[in-house]
Amino acid sequence: MKQPRVELIGTGRHVPEHILTNADLETMVDTSDKWILERTGIRERRIATADETLAFMGKLACEQVLESAGVDVMDVDTIIVGTASPDRLLPSQACDLQATLGAENAAAFDVGAACSGFLYALAVAEGLVVSGQARHVLVVGAERLSKITDYQDRSTCILFGDGVGATLVRARQERDRGILSSYLKTDGTLAELLYRPGGGAVHPPSLEMLNDRSYYLRMAGPETFKHAVVKMADACHEVLARAGMSPDDVDVLIPHQANLRIIEATAKRIGIPVEKAFVNIDRYGNTSAASIPMALDECVREGRITEGSTVLMVAFGGGLTWGATLVRW
Ligand code: ACO
Repeated sequence: MKQPRVELIGTGRHVPEHILTNADLETMVDTSDKWILERTGIRERRIATADETLAFMGKLACEQVLESAGVDVMDVDTIIVGTASPDRLLPSQACDLQATLGAENAAAFDVGAACSGFLYALAVAEGLVVSGQARHVLVVGAERLSKITDYQDRSTCILFGDGVGATLVRARQERDRGILSSYLKTDGTLAELLYRPGGGAVHPPSLEMLNDRSYYLRMAGPETFKHAVVKMADACHEVLARAGMSPDDVDVLIPHQANLRIIEATAKRIGIPVEKAFVNIDRYGNTSAASIPMALDECVREGRITEGSTVLMVAFGGGLTWGATLVRW
């Protein structure tokens, strides 16, 4: 008997109400709306208030997922959260989400792969379902990057926003739909292109860390940019080859929303018309692990993805980590 496919049967998202515009950022650092828009494609991003924890936002996103999938919360047996900005460092974000959601029958854990976190989590979920260890897995990308962003650093603070996106997966015996192929890759030798120097066990919280701002996320933008385009295009070619398909077969490309210029250059390098690439970075900025599931939910609810659509999701982020997943919806 052939292995079952793993299908995505519901989607959801939640973003905070508060909007931080480029004009707001002009009052905070030496930047301009023109520079931000031309260099990144971002107009505004959402910023969580103190009460809008990831557990809170995650609950709202997951409730939408369960409603659209028609699955009861008690039937969820696993929750996997991709995040680089959890509500607290211990326990995992997934444990806090499990409690808030009331998913009493679920095991819950996080996956740490920065902006690639959602696709890494989805691959883990696929493995658990195919091996029969799980039936209904909530896969969540959740970020409150505003809490680890240095609002004195104009090269990074213009980029990031907060939000949560999620999906639910389960086995499908008919192999006509579901995840067709996936691919994950890491190069840890390039970790310091995008990282947080302080706050871990090597440099535990200290007054010095607060003063030198090493608690915040740091990124070597131009170098990261070059890796992002090449590696995301490579990952797309790899998943297409593994499924015996070509770029022409793709209906919707959902790239990680890091920079509009990266999205355009990546689509070109893969050989997919840029019109097929979904873009919402103008409204949400870079929400790291949340960007792909948020975009996926928007595409499904707008009817841009329908039954039978071939969807190519591709991520890239700190690690460096990258990967792609090809799905027939
Ligand atoms: N406003 C005005 N000027 C600025 C700003 C700003 N906000 N930021 C930088 N500049 C200046 C620089 O100081 C520099 O000035 P100089 O030429 O006088 O030195 C000039 O603009 C060009 O700076 P670059 O850093 O070369 O600008 P670039 O065009 O590369 O854009 C950016 C920077 C937007 C960060 C881009 O490099 C990028 O998007 N990088 C990749 C992001 C990414 O993919 N990250 C991975 C995923 S994120 C994650 O995992 C959390």
